[in-house]
Amino acid sequence: MPTSPAVNVFDPAIFAEGIPHDAFRRLRDEAPVAWQEEHAVGPWPAGRGYWAVTRYAEVRRVLASPGDFSSWAGATQIRDPEAEDLPFIRRMILNMDAPEHLRLRRLVTGAFSRRRLEQFREAMTARARQALDVVAPHGRSDLPCDVTDDLPVANLAALLGMPASDRRLLLRWTNRVIGYQDPEHGDVARDSRGRPVNPRSPAALADMFAYADELAAHKRRAPADDVMSALVHARVDGESLTGDELKMFFFLLVIAGTDTTRSALPGGVLALAEHPDAYRRLRADPRLLGTAVEEILRWHPPVLSFRRTATREVELAGTPIRAGEKVVVYHVSAHFDEREFPEPFRFDVAREPNRHLAFGHGPHKCLGAHFARLQMEIFFTEFLRRLPQVEVDGPVQRLTSNFINGINHLPLRWATP
Ligand code: HEM
Repeated sequence: MPTSPAVNVFDPAIFAEGIPHDAFRRLRDEAPVAWQEEHAVGPWPAGRGYWAVTRYAEVRRVLASPGDFSSWAGATQIRDPEAEDLPFIRRMILNMDAPEHLRLRRLVTGAFSRRRLEQFREAMTARARQALDVVAPHGRSDLPCDVTDDLPVANLAALLGMPASDRRLLLRWTNRVIGYQDPEHGDVARDSRGRPVNPRSPAALADMFAYADELAAHKRRAPADDVMSALVHARVDGESLTGDELKMFFFLLVIAGTDTTRSALPGGVLALAEHPDAYRRLRADPRLLGTAVEEILRWHPPVLSFRRTATREVELAGTPIRAGEKVVVYHVSAHFDEREFPEPFRFDVAREPNRHLAFGHGPHKCLGAHFARLQMEIFFTEFLRRLPQVEVDGPVQRLTSNFINGINHLPLRWATP
């Protein structure tokens, strides 16, 4: 059994208390590739353990080396999927290696053209304004509940060409998959023997797949300028997406496209509330918004970690890793590595360069990055215009998850005219 400092960065409950910066700093300094035990969590059994990678350089290297660190072998979540679910989970683009990954990526990339995404700017601006106008006169708000849980799902529903009222379904599905370890969001089904059903297994996703089928059929009959229509009609070198591929991609968009932005918006507001100087500076000079969005993504990366599996014996920061072992990269630790970022614990809305890894790196780099940045730019522009300095007005409640850096409750107050 490998020996590493007794530092736990696995337990999802730890992240509900805040980012364990001291633990990560110790790992970066003493054991940048450290063994982590995977104890049982609630009804979920213990796992076989994994290597936690915490320095920027090694995180980047793992993400850029899919030949050594596979997304396909054991998929990309820390918890191993049930053996019988693995073939199903591997049909998602996120959990593929070349050449299948390349084939699918070429087929879906066109749907996210800048031209198409920019079309949604106006409607997204109106949505952000309306939501903020409702809370502004009250002088206080629990931001996720009042504003930022709904905006990303409303924006994603529009992007996919879904009726606006169906966005509640998006929230339900993403809570089930991402919030499964969270006391507030969790909604864990049990099988006939009382065991918890993996939220990423086909059994837990039947209603979402039925919806995806129906939406795809509708877009075949009545195409519009939205992502789902583009996907059902995508053709590259005579190839198109199969019905199953389309459903799996819809599933990925539901989770990748909501809980991430849903984390970035309150995460950025919390950072600004805790740094009044940055708030004032940004209000005085909105041209800093571009670098501020990148700094928010560094400071509060919506994705805490991603998993890979070693395909062969490989050495990382002097640590030998055996074929088949799990390797988990921590974006949230890499972003505070002083070897890459000068004064990483300074929130600097003008930081440049800022080579953060919030959208990943390498072949799986986020396909929705432009859409996410657009949503953040719009939201923070409207937020800064409408609200004076905000202050935290009670306990911040975070998502219990070692994957998504979610904020369930963020009570705020501000002065009203
Ligand atoms: C701030 C918001 C977002 C963050 C931080 C984020 C982060 C990420 C990260 C880290 C990955 C790489 C996964 C890996 O290394 O295995 C990824 C992949 C992906 N993201 Fe995002 N994402 C965001 C928003 C979105 C949105 C809005 C969409 C779609 C509308 C989206 C769609 C995707 C897709 C399809 C992939 C898979 C790409 C592939 O496997 O080739 N993401 N995202």
